[in-house]
Amino acid sequence: MEIDHPVVELRRVSKSFGRQRVLDDIDLRVERGKNTVIIGRSGTGKSVLLKHIVGLLRPDRGEVHFEGQRVDRLTERAWVPVRRQISFVFQLNALFDSMTVLENVAFPMTENRTGRIDHKQIRDLAARCLERVGLTGFEKKRPAELSGGERKRVALARAIAMDPPPKVILYDEPTAGLDPQRSNGINKLIRQMQRDFQVTGVVVTHDMRSAAEVGDRVLMLWGGHFVADGTPQEVMESEEPHVRRFVQGIGEPGDVVTFTR
Ligand SMILES: Nc1ncnc2c1ncn2[C@@H]1O[C@H](COP(=O)(O)OP(=O)(O)OP(=O)(O)O)[C@@H](O)[C@H]1O
Ligand SMILES: [Mg+2]
Repeated sequence: MEIDHPVVELRRVSKSFGRQRVLDDIDLRVERGKNTVIIGRSGTGKSVLLKHIVGLLRPDRGEVHFEGQRVDRLTERAWVPVRRQISFVFQLNALFDSMTVLENVAFPMTENRTGRIDHKQIRDLAARCLERVGLTGFEKKRPAELSGGERKRVALARAIAMDPPPKVILYDEPTAGLDPQRSNGINKLIRQMQRDFQVTGVVVTHDMRSAAEVGDRVLMLWGGHFVADGTPQEVMESEEPHVRRFVQGIGEPGDVVTFTR
């Protein structure tokens, strides 16, 4: 059967905080099985956009759809079955320091047990997910004992540790703060998730290189709108001034430059 609706769709979504309009009439159709990358400089609303997809924020105007169902007006209770199909890799990883690595990975499955799998199966699945991200042997460690890159990988393992696997994974800055080799490793994992689970990815980053490596489509958020939308190559060659400055790593006119000693 052909499914013709996008997995996730935002229709004319606007969101303000006080007088600050962060999203201004945004339309986005996220294509199934592809990685859609949202780039943009700090504070342009990339995390805010992701949070609308899982109902952590609600739009002031406009609609959010998941699998053809309008979700922005659902009650918290009605969100539960929708959220079971979506994983969110948070910008700050959101690991629990009081739990071991294995417990962290198993946590969402333990919390949302649907009765399909028992505790032993949950632990086994969590261990297999850690193996996928190259962290076998780290099960008993605690997040505080890990490097930044290892913590990112734990967060990725947790994102796929769902039964059934998630339909959509939202990655908020998965490579921020990592060296180029580690970033590359994470980018490969993101591609692996896509390939092995046919998962749809929405990846937020301000790293253009990462965008090019994981993205099938790249959009750039600026001033509440998308100012670029195309393949990584097309975006890198864009003539749009904000996009060009972003890609080349040049500041915007009027940027305040501060020096610290
Ligand atoms: N819950 C909130 N209440 C008030 N303002 C908010 C809230 N969430 C975000 N904002 C504001 O909205 C703007 C966009 O925030 P957002 O976190 O989406 O930025 P971002 O693009 O993800 O930036 P970064 O790359 O630094 O993570 C910021 O100016 C932020 O201060
Ligand atoms: Mg952010």
